[in-house]
Amino acid sequence: ADPDLLQDFCVGDVNASITINGFPCKPASEVTPDDFFFDGLSREGNTSNQFGTGVTLGNVLSFPGLNTLGISMNRVDFAPGGLNPPHSHPRATESGIIIEGRLLVGFVTTGNVFYSKVLTAGQMFVVPKGLVHFQKNVGEGKALIFTAFNSQLPGAVILSTTLFGATPAIPNDVLTKAFQVEEDVINEMKAKFGP
Ligand code: GLV
Ligand code: MN
Repeated sequence: ADPDLLQDFCVGDVNASITINGFPCKPASEVTPDDFFFDGLSREGNTSNQFGTGVTLGNVLSFPGLNTLGISMNRVDFAPGGLNPPHSHPRATESGIIIEGRLLVGFVTTGNVFYSKVLTAGQMFVVPKGLVHFQKNVGEGKALIFTAFNSQLPGAVILSTTLFGATPAIPNDVLTKAFQVEEDVINEMKAKFGP
């Protein structure tokens, strides 16, 4: 989905003072082998949070060697019962593979059709670009997946935090009307997902 390459690589200078679409290239003389290797996905993510899930990002911000290459990966660790909550990626299609455990994996189309399946180790899934999706650990123990994207920075719109945790907050009358509930329900959600 990202633009095509104009050179072999362009290791991102993610702290550069100029801003462009992507990141400017680090000078070739400063590029080292370490720019093309990343061990950030080798460690288990922290699942001690309200969702019981730890997402570790291997995108251009954590792994600048990906700059202009049009791909990235995540590692997602799940405690028993853990949920990677409904979200979408505005800039990428996602594929994933289950390494350990048993997960309910699904997405919803723009026509509100829900496609889902329970997957185990070695099985893959795909999420078309921009569609809302989730994974839930439905096994007895921990679960682990790796996901891959056709963007160096797919972005993630997490529905709960986008709607109820925005800064500044979305006005309550918008949310009560949108969800057809009383204000106390909205305030409860804002308390759970607020900044
Ligand atoms: C899983 O959905 C992920 O975005 O890594
Ligand atoms: Mn995703």
